[in-house]
Amino acid sequence: MNADNAEDPPKARLVTEVWGVFRSFLAARRNLLEIIPEAATRRPILSGRTGGVRWHMVCDPASIRRILKDNVANYPKSPVTKNILEPAIGDSLFVAEGEHWRWQRQAAAPVFTYRNVAALAPIMSEAADAACRRLETCGGKAEMHEAMVRATFDVIGRVTLTGSGRMDSAFVHGAIESYIASTARISLLDIAGIPMRIPRLRQWTSTKPLRTIRRIADEAIAHRIASGPMPVPDVLDALLDGIDPESGRRMNPHELRDNLLAFIVAGHETTALALAWSLFLLAYDPGVQERLRAETIAVLGGRTATAADVNRLSLTRQVIDEALRLYPPAAILSRSAQRADELCGRDIRQGDTVILPIYALHRHHQLWDRPDSFDPDRFSNGRPVDRFAYLPFGDGPRVCIGASFALTEAVIILATLISRFRFRRLPGPGPKPVMILTLRPHGGIHLEVEALPSRTAS
Ligand code: HEM
Repeated sequence: MNADNAEDPPKARLVTEVWGVFRSFLAARRNLLEIIPEAATRRPILSGRTGGVRWHMVCDPASIRRILKDNVANYPKSPVTKNILEPAIGDSLFVAEGEHWRWQRQAAAPVFTYRNVAALAPIMSEAADAACRRLETCGGKAEMHEAMVRATFDVIGRVTLTGSGRMDSAFVHGAIESYIASTARISLLDIAGIPMRIPRLRQWTSTKPLRTIRRIADEAIAHRIASGPMPVPDVLDALLDGIDPESGRRMNPHELRDNLLAFIVAGHETTALALAWSLFLLAYDPGVQERLRAETIAVLGGRTATAADVNRLSLTRQVIDEALRLYPPAAILSRSAQRADELCGRDIRQGDTVILPIYALHRHHQLWDRPDSFDPDRFSNGRPVDRFAYLPFGDGPRVCIGASFALTEAVIILATLISRFRFRRLPGPGPKPVMILTLRPHGGIHLEVEALPSRTAS
């Protein structure tokens, strides 16, 4: 086993011994990453049986390609994803399977074309400016995870809920948080195949906030139907326009609302995490931060970044790519085998759980040089390794529909922030990567924030 390099940014403590059901249960409640064996960062496949359920953790790019693409019909999302999210977002795009998934995906696709994302990008530039204004008055210190959640909610809220008249981001985010806190910690145990039956009493606590968010979404839908589409079609317009090519039907109000909420849940915290971890890594490596500042000032010259700048902000994009490698927000994906198959020469049986530990894949010793180090230059010529070794957005037909939206947003916000502020670490322990539905910085990302005297020079 490699010794930890003191220079490397914080990483999760992976398991190095065989754990029983109870210990795995406690670890999964604390931090789902702690159910990943350290050996997953060195071997192509690990298999086991926990509480009667057979599971396989796969880190072999060719096998992952088979699971996500070539034999995708055999590996639908495992019931755990559905169990956590269905009460909140129904049988929407994120959780649906088969034909019901296909037509919802087609209905939403027009929002995420390159042209439409560029047309929506002014909303992202405005959110970047608003985030800068808040940092100017933060008193020199800020918790950047929360700050980035606020910024990305400004964006997703405007492309989904405009018209509700109730766009209180703190409220909507708080309600989603309380829902996730009450369901995800328990239900994710199923990923490990641990058949614990725990009364889900805490779900009650989420019922009222969830009802209120649903009402807000319903208001937005009713308002949009009455007022007609926005000048630039947003998520709600696309969903209202979507027609099932087979049956010719449109989404009913229930389906519209579930999908709106799906986009909010899937879209804002993930992008906020990409930004927050990027800022942490830049504070941790001031040399890279200065290089990045030089790029942003050269390209932006003091302006707020726009979609037209994104292709020229290549180091900004590399930093985000590297943050998504070290701290992938969707750090574990899970599938359920429908029929017998073979992966890495190993028998997969019907009903086996197939886990893609993206966190371990991105730090795999056979796939990456110095896997735990922060080095955005590894992305200087595009993707440095096998396409199926770097999967922050998944791949195949279920690949993240919002990937280019998220990357455009992250580049615009990060470049604008770095061109206007210098970020430094504060004394004390750094954040700990903890997975609760997404990979979050436990303890927060507390940084010193110095407003730069001039927007054109550092
Ligand atoms: C950095 C930000 C993001 C990351 C890391 C991310 C990651 C992912 C991943 C890994 C998946 C595939 C899950 C699986 O195969 O089990 C996914 C699916 C999805 N994402 Fe994202 N996502 C991000 C941003 C967004 C945004 C901005 C939106 C929408 C505005 C979005 C909407 C969705 C939806 C609807 C799906 C389900 C697609 C389908 O099943 O057809 N995501 N995302």
